[in-house]
Amino acid sequence: MAEFTLPKNSKIKAGKTFNAAAGAKRIKRIRVYRWSPEDDDNPRIDTYEIDLDKCGPMVLDAIIHIKNEIDSTLTFRRSCREGICGSCAMNIGGTNTLACTKAIDDYEGDINIYPLPHMDVVKDLVPDMTHFYAQYASVKPWLQTQTTPPPDRERLQSKEERAELDGLYECILCACCSTSCPSYWWNQERYLGPAILLQAYRFIADSRDENTGERLDELEDPFKLYRCHTIMNCTNSCPKGLNPAKAIAEIKKKMVERSV
Ligand code: SF4
Ligand code: SF4
Ligand code: FES
Repeated sequence: MAEFTLPKNSKIKAGKTFNAAAGAKRIKRIRVYRWSPEDDDNPRIDTYEIDLDKCGPMVLDAIIHIKNEIDSTLTFRRSCREGICGSCAMNIGGTNTLACTKAIDDYEGDINIYPLPHMDVVKDLVPDMTHFYAQYASVKPWLQTQTTPPPDRERLQSKEERAELDGLYECILCACCSTSCPSYWWNQERYLGPAILLQAYRFIADSRDENTGERLDELEDPFKLYRCHTIMNCTNSCPKGLNPAKAIAEIKKKMVERSV
C-alpha cells in the first residue's frame, strides 16, 4: 500500500500507523482525526489497517474494531447502531453522515474520518454539542397550549394534520445538516442552523400547538432565521433523507403570510 502523506503546510501532523496483523488478506486502511486535551501532538491523523475478515460491514463496526482490538484510546460516540440515536454522526469520506448506516464497501480506497466540521472537539471524533443543544432548547421543542385539554381524551389530529409532521418528526438531531451549512459555520453563535429550524417548524406545523405566533416572533430575526441562503448542503447531507431547507422555506413563507 502507498504511504499516506499530508499536504504540504498542513497543520495536521501525520500520526501513528497501526499495520494489520501478518496473514490478513483483505485490508482496508482507515485514517482517523485525533485530538486530545492530554496529548502534545494535536491534531494528528492516525492510520489503522483493518482486517475486513475480522470486522463487521459498517464503518461504525470498523471504528469499534479499532477501539476493541487495535487502539483503545480512540474516542467516539455511538449508541443504537441503527441510525436512530444520531450520536455516531461524523465526517466520513468528506461527507457528514452516520457511521452506523454507512457500509465500509461504500468507500473505495482509504476511508478518512473526521469529527463533524466547524465544531469544537472534546476528544477525537466527539464534537462539543453544548451550543447546539442550547439552540434546540431555545425553540421550546414541546407542544404549548393555552386551552384546557378535553377531559376524556388526548388532543386529536385529523390524518391530514398528522401528515403535516411527516418529514419533520423523523429528525434524530444528529447535526449532520447544521455542520455542513456554510452559514452555520460562520454564524453559529446567532444563526440557528437547519437542524434547529427544522425542529422549530415541527412545532409550528403541529395543529395541536397554540403558540404559533410567539414561535414566529422568536424567529423573526436577521440572524436566527435569515442567514439561510438556500445553499442546500443541509438537505444533501441529511442521513435520514429529510429536507431542512424546505422546512426553513416554510417558516419564511409563514412570516410573509402573517405580514400581508
Ligand atoms: S439551505 Fe440554508 S440551512 Fe441549508 S445549507 Fe443552505 S444556508 Fe444552510
Ligand atoms: S434534519 Fe437530518 S441531518 Fe439534520 S439533524 Fe435532523 S436527521 Fe440530522
Ligand atoms: S449509533 Fe445511533 S445513529 Fe449511529
